[in-house]
Amino acid sequence: MTAQLIDGKAIAAEIRGEVGLRAAKLTEQGVRPGLGVVLVGGDPASQVYVRMKTRACEEAGIMARDILPGGDITQADLLAIVDDLNADPDVHGILVQLPLPKHLNETEVTERIDPSKDVDGFHPVNQGRMAQGSPEAFRPATPAGIQELIKRTGIDTSGRHVVIVGRSNIVGMPMSTIMLQKEDGANATVTVAHSRTKNLAEVTRLGEILIVAVGRPEMITGDMVREGAVVIDVGVNRVDDPSSERGYRLVGDVAFDEAFERASWITPVPGGVGPMTIAMLLKNTVTAAERALRTVASTQPSMG
Ligand code: GUN
Repeated sequence: MTAQLIDGKAIAAEIRGEVGLRAAKLTEQGVRPGLGVVLVGGDPASQVYVRMKTRACEEAGIMARDILPGGDITQADLLAIVDDLNADPDVHGILVQLPLPKHLNETEVTERIDPSKDVDGFHPVNQGRMAQGSPEAFRPATPAGIQELIKRTGIDTSGRHVVIVGRSNIVGMPMSTIMLQKEDGANATVTVAHSRTKNLAEVTRLGEILIVAVGRPEMITGDMVREGAVVIDVGVNRVDDPSSERGYRLVGDVAFDEAFERASWITPVPGGVGPMTIAMLLKNTVTAAERALRTVASTQPSMG
């Protein structure tokens, strides 16, 4: 079997279009959706992500406020930035780009964000609500985007075996929670494999849907993919390539050419999962702004 490509770029563009319409409607009602983005220090990969997020916001009619403290900022000063964004009525969503420099306490920063503005879905309140099936919980953008890719490609997940490789707080762990939900695009039987898993290839070959988020270039080889599987590759890794103008090329966590020969559907890198992360972040931000508008409307004294 050879695979069909899951077009993350096209599906993300569709979602960004939908978000743009919702943002325009909000702006007409006097509320321009706003996202505060905090990037600590000058990590080049994070700078690229943040630039892409800011540009995507502007295209969708969302106000993006970038706050760029130096890498030597203290924990107290960073918490004060979060407090200011929590209190700012023009900011509906807050994103603190991870990872933070080693001297900062990521957990404390994440927990400082007002859960109603936590469009990253990393706050324990949102993670807990998501696990319990609350439709109100903000879901982390990457796993939510993967579910959307699967749904919009028309792939059925109900009762199927989803194998996730990787257990990070950003992708693997919330992905497993989402796939277990009693909802469209989930209802799956879920296995999570990770660095301590024994006989990894035997486990990955069980996956009718195989989702890989480990950050190791081409770790999943063709023989580890079940014939006819749907393969979702979250990895974006730079590998040296002297033949390329930039001196490197981007590869996923899956050996694409080999997996392509066995899978029924597969995401490319780049152009698969990556664009969905940004689209879902924008979607969460517009949702946060819609809720803020409803809260204001319901607490304003009636004119009658
Ligand atoms: N670093 C890598 N992915 C993400 C993400 O989705 N959100 C944040 N805040 N940081 C990240």
